[in-house]
Amino acid sequence: MAGASCSARACGAETPRATRADRTGRKPHVNPPLIFVLNGPNLNLLGTRQPEIYGHETLDDIEALCAETADALDLAIDFRQTNVEGELISWVQEARSMAAGIVINPAGYSHTSIALMDALLASDLPVVEVHLSNIHRRESFRHLSYVSRAAQGVICGLGPHGYALALRGIAGILAQAEQD
Ligand code: DQA
Repeated sequence: MAGASCSARACGAETPRATRADRTGRKPHVNPPLIFVLNGPNLNLLGTRQPEIYGHETLDDIEALCAETADALDLAIDFRQTNVEGELISWVQEARSMAAGIVINPAGYSHTSIALMDALLASDLPVVEVHLSNIHRRESFRHLSYVSRAAQGVICGLGPHGYALALRGIAGILAQAEQD
């Protein structure tokens, strides 16, 4: 996978009607709701990177699972990966006006990036954090995630299935918000 990518659902003929927030700051009307699925550093190496920890599935496999899950939930996704902290932060800022929610695996930046946490807090969007591995069973430096402070939910240790659960979580949060 070369840097950023987005799912056929989000980029193709079925592109959701997403427009930037207008000057009043109103959220754009988007149907189906667009969810940014953001992936941090080294996740482009999935499939070959420490498979005993991260498994054999590639990021393309995870994107396909997310696209399938989003379809079933009547959501659209924009699936991206970057190795650059600033780019991840810019995407979170972009989501602020473009998306209804964020699923994020911040990878190593989970444990280091106050700036990413700040961007997520500023997004004012429902955020679900995902980790393929159970970070709490691993080295102590992985036990703290700054990103978790900005997340409504955190899923870890369930491999790629965690992404599908995160999308379900976001769908539930959005449905609840519509009722409130
Ligand atoms: C990870 C866990 C992080 O600690 C690590 O730096 C990663 C991947 C996971 O998905 O399990 O790169 O986020």
